[in-house]
Order: sequence, then structure tokens, then C-alpha cells
Amino acid sequence: MNIMLKTNDIANLVEADRAHVWHHLSQHKSYETVDPQLMVEGRGMRVWDATGKEYLDATSGGVWTVNVGYGRETIADAVRDQLVKLNYFAGAKGSIPGARFAQKLIEKMPGLTRVYYSNSGSEANEKVFKMVRQIAARHHGGRKWKILYRERDYHGTTFGALAACGQPQRNTDYGPYPPGFVEVPHCLEYRNQYPDLADYGIAAADAIEAVILREGPDTVGAICLEPITAGGGVITPPVGYWERVQEICTKYQVLIHIDEVVCGLGRTGKWFGYQQYGVQPDFVTVAKGLASGYAAISCTITTEAIFDLFKTDASDPMNHFRDISTFGGCLAGPAAALENMRIIEDEELLGNTVAMGERLRNNLLGLMEKHPVIGDVRGCGLFQGAELVADRVTKEPLAEAKVQAVVAKCMSMGVIIGATNRSLPGLNNTLTLSPALIATTAEIDTITATIGEALTAVA
Ligand SMILES: Cc1ncc(COP(=O)(O)O)c(C=O)c1O
Repeated sequence: MNIMLKTNDIANLVEADRAHVWHHLSQHKSYETVDPQLMVEGRGMRVWDATGKEYLDATSGGVWTVNVGYGRETIADAVRDQLVKLNYFAGAKGSIPGARFAQKLIEKMPGLTRVYYSNSGSEANEKVFKMVRQIAARHHGGRKWKILYRERDYHGTTFGALAACGQPQRNTDYGPYPPGFVEVPHCLEYRNQYPDLADYGIAAADAIEAVILREGPDTVGAICLEPITAGGGVITPPVGYWERVQEICTKYQVLIHIDEVVCGLGRTGKWFGYQQYGVQPDFVTVAKGLASGYAAISCTITTEAIFDLFKTDASDPMNHFRDISTFGGCLAGPAAALENMRIIEDEELLGNTVAMGERLRNNLLGLMEKHPVIGDVRGCGLFQGAELVADRVTKEPLAEAKVQAVVAKCMSMGVIIGATNRSLPGLNNTLTLSPALIATTAEIDTITATIGEALTAVA
């Protein structure tokens, strides 16, 4: 760690934080007796807190974000250079980094052509919901306005995104929500809802068709899905699922919106998670790893066919997409994202993600042999989860407090891992692992060895 804080400074900062900062997703009662932890520095895969304690971070900043690792001076330089040249101009105008980055992103997304800038995953998803609603209003005579979302998926924290939220612990109490968001069943094979049907992937996708038929195909405009569900339990789609989803959506003219906020930019070993499954989306939303947290940026990406629907009548002042994101015009975002993408390419981080993802998965499967508390290991690339159960036969989930104790034990041993939390009542029992795409074999082995020790100690 470069910055050494004096004991007095630390105490003052902790008190300032305790007195004035409201932490995200946190129950603050505990801070009456325990000090809030301040993170102060990062380098590669490692972070240091204010006391100087070092951690190996297997979460990319807690929430799947710092894909290229901490302390990237070239990204900082690119951002600085852009800020002193031009920090901001509203997105009704173009910009040099905005044009360059859109072109570079689109090169990786065959079939898609248009990039709309905003600054969070929630906001990127809201843009799609608004586009779908406007297409319904202007091109389908007010029909096809409903948006399907999936049980256990998460799409953000704003009202539209919470209306499309398959995690009751995230959206309960904050309603009422806008109408027209309809849930479809989850596709977690480990907790198969259709044990009598032979092919789980097809059965889970057919459940979507059943919802479309129930709602009326002429009312359903789009479906919003994570390619691999993240905070809802690292749910990899079952075999055949995405192909069947695509068939169903084509049949009923339902637009496919893939939320790549977590999986995008290499997390699974391909540029985008959907590219693992051969599906062709109409909309893709990206945030988190887009600039690895060096700047706040998100993108809503779509096809020329969708884009064209918003310029059919230049004489009509209501015809275009009537939306703005003030900070979607911050140019630090695309400047950072461009350099972030260069790093992923030049350092061949997609290949590293495949290789290290395989190692992480094999190590977790090794742990599963020794620890009956691991009921299932799931994931793709450097995006893996281990579902913990009290009983492998009944699959009774391990109590959330015990899952959190495993996370805390790892933290005390200097390794930061994640766990699904405050999402699904009774089912917040999956350890989540998402190291930066630069992870080495030694780091992966340290992460899993530490988890093994924590499981022995706690579970
Ligand atoms: C899949 C997914 N979509 C959207 C979001 C929302 O992103 P943000 O917090 O940037 O609004 C998240 C955040 O965790 C997410 O996991």
C-alpha cells in the first residue's frame, strides 16, 4: 500500500463515515458497535483498507465491476487527457471518445449498430423499457407494451427496473410499480420446477411461451433476461434454453433485451455473455465492467431496425426518442471504456478468463468432493457460484447467516468473496466469485484454498 494513514486520521475518517455516510444495501445498526470499513487503495487483484490490511479481491470491487483490475494508470491517463480537453457536452451532440468507443463496441456485436450512452445499469435498462413502450405506442397501436422479466433476475434499482425485478427482497415495500411488467419462471435446473419433463432447458423456455399466451401475444413487446443470472444465484441457462427462447420470441414478435450489466466485457470469456449461447438480441445493456469502474458509464445497444423506428417521421416532434441522460454526456466514460477495451484485447484477457475460469471451476468442484455443504457449482469463465446446502439430498439451503459467516471468515483470512444476499427469501445461499480477468493461477488457488478453510471452520 502506498498511502499510509496515521492512526488519528483513520479514527477521524471512520467517525466521519459512521456519522454521515449511508452505505449501500447495508443495515447500519451494526456500525454502532463495529467500525465501518474504509477501502483506500487497489493494485491489480489486491485492495487495502484504512488499517493497511491487504485483501485478495475475488469480487472485482464487490459487484463484478473492476474487470481489468485496480490501479490502471493508462485508464487514469486517458480519463485525465479527455477531461482537460473536454470533460462534458450534452449527448445531443457527438464527441470524439463517444464516436470511437461506439465503433469499437459495435465491432464486437454483430447485428447491432447503435449505442445510447447513460451512466448506470439501471438507467441503461430503463432506456430499453422506454424504447419498447414508445414502439408500442407509435407502431403497434398501443399494443405490445408489456415487458417480461424472469424470477430471480435483477435489472437495477430505479422504479422501472424494480418493476422488472425477480428478487422480492429488492422490490418489496417500494411499490406501487408501473403496470405491464410480467414475471416468467426461473431456469435453475438444480431447483427444477418440472421434474416430470425430460428436457429442462426446453421446459423452462416453454414456460415463457405459456406466459406470452396467457397475457396475449399482441400485448407482449419484449423480454428482459440476464444471459446468466448474477445476484439471483449465478444461474447458467440449461442446455437448449436460449435457442428455444429465441424461437419463441421470433414466433410472437417479442423483442429480446439481454441485460449484460454483469456478463458484458469479458466476464464469461467472450465479449458478451449472450455470445456463449448463439442468441441474437434486439437490445443489449452494459455497465459495470464497461469501464471497470474507472468512470460511470453504461450503454444501451440496439439494431438499425429498432433505431429506424425512431426516425420514421421527421415532421412529428413526438417521433424521436425523447430521452436524455445528463451524465451520459460525461466524456470520461467513453475515454475510460476505450482504454479498458484496449487492455482486454492487448493483454488477451478473454483467453485468460477462459483458462482461469476453468481452473476456478475445477477447484470448486474439488472442494465439492470434500465439503458436502456445496450442493452445486455453476458459472462460466470468471463468473462462478457455489450453492451451499444444509442437506445435499433435500437441497435445503444453508442458512443465510452461515453463508455470510463463510464470507466473513474468508475476509478475515484476507480474501474477499461474495454471496447472493438480500435477494430471495430463504435462497441467499450461493457464494459468488468474480475475480478480475487478470487473475493468475496462484491467485485462483489462494481464493479456493481460503474458501475450503472457511467451509471447514464454519459449515
Ligand atoms: C444484471 C444487473 N443489471 C442491472 C444492474 C443495475 O446496475 P446499476 O447498479 O449500475 O444501476 C445490476 C446491478 O447489480 C445487475 O446485476
